[in-house]
Amino acid sequence: MGDKLNVLVLGSGGREHAIIEACSRSPRLGRLYAIPGNPGIANRAECHKLNAEDGTSIAAFCKEHAVDLVIVGPEAPLAAGVADVIRANGTAVFGPSKAGAMLEASKEFSKNFMARHNVPTAKFFVCRTVDEAQNALAQFAPPYIVKASGLAAGKGVFVEPTLEGARNAVEQLLVRKTLGSAGDTLVIEEALPGRELSLMVITDTKDFRLLSTSQDHKRLKDGDKGPNTGGMGAYAPAPWVTDELMARALREVIEPSVAALRAEKLDYRGVLYVGLMIAPDGTPKVLEYNVRLGDPETEVLLPLFEGDWVDLCWHVANGDLASFEWKKETQCSLCVICASGNYPAGKSAPAVISGLDAANAVAGVTVYHCGTSAQDGSIMATGGRVLCVSAVAPTLEAAKTRAYEAVNKISFDGMQYRHDIGHQVFEA
Ligand code: AMP
Ligand code: GLY
Repeated sequence: MGDKLNVLVLGSGGREHAIIEACSRSPRLGRLYAIPGNPGIANRAECHKLNAEDGTSIAAFCKEHAVDLVIVGPEAPLAAGVADVIRANGTAVFGPSKAGAMLEASKEFSKNFMARHNVPTAKFFVCRTVDEAQNALAQFAPPYIVKASGLAAGKGVFVEPTLEGARNAVEQLLVRKTLGSAGDTLVIEEALPGRELSLMVITDTKDFRLLSTSQDHKRLKDGDKGPNTGGMGAYAPAPWVTDELMARALREVIEPSVAALRAEKLDYRGVLYVGLMIAPDGTPKVLEYNVRLGDPETEVLLPLFEGDWVDLCWHVANGDLASFEWKKETQCSLCVICASGNYPAGKSAPAVISGLDAANAVAGVTVYHCGTSAQDGSIMATGGRVLCVSAVAPTLEAAKTRAYEAVNKISFDGMQYRHDIGHQVFEA
């Protein structure tokens, strides 16, 4: 197994809390640090208030604290090139280089990458002017899909039922600059019908392995109604993914994607999140790539991961995924996001959270912190997605029962959550 490793996790959300818990279960773990972390993470790791996007100060921190391995949670530090700076200073990193992170940071880059390597995706146009955008929209039928090319924290994609709505989205992005420079370039593409599936591919470009299948719930309200969010809950595995469907996704999308990373000589050691649309006839096409684990998918995937997470990240960071011994997941997991009252539209006043201990005491349940702060002995909801209540059980039904039993013990002013996570499975 080798020596103990001191690990630093970058990030502050529910995904990073789940990564921290997975690290804590590892026999290889030495000391555990987080930058900046959150009150849930602080129960397991030493948290430091540094800027996670400042590679030079993170690299200095690694030297000072004898960190062996950095695991990068969110996309922003990766897009800022933090992995490159830390690596250049001699510390191993689980997370792609700045050049690799372009697959998420620029939709223009990622769509052209897919086109160059024949990875199936929606037909598209890259547009920099209103005229170009009008011409592109004229090529498609409703619903119209308008995307800001740059990083927009989940706010850059418009799915518009009417041409007027699509033109309005173009005007917002290109003329009124509502997303700043992230909207200077647009991708306008064909709408794909079907069912969404996220696959988390762990890769060092030479080899790859897949975490369990999972499904996010992007809309705010029950029945997949209301605005898009960062994700209101998830479950894993997705039982409707047949062996045949998985074989097609591997052959037609995942293998060509990893081969493309290799062909372009990208330094890519981490996670390639492949967001797929599966057409009614089973054809998989890529909606988007992300260069990190999904949130809240991680909060169902890592509790199911039965291997040694630190050892896996170490193997990947060193380009040696091939020699890591993978164990197949045997359990099921379901999570429910508890969000603040004004999510996703705006901020909410801080509110005291009650019932956390009782929720964590439910069998199989872990409550991950997403948007909390610690004040005078209380844990406060600070807005956005606040908590992720995640349950593991032998079946999805049992995981759902446990998760909602725990959710019912939690309260804070304005708390909202979906009651129907997993409906695709339970109503099938
Ligand atoms: P993205 O961030 O690119 O995954 O887009 C966010 C969400 O918008 C996706 O999860 C889909 O629900 C929807 N979406 C994006 N692109 C398309 C498309 N070409 N066809 C249909 N829905 C899409
Ligand atoms: N849950 C979607 C994402 O992490 O992008």
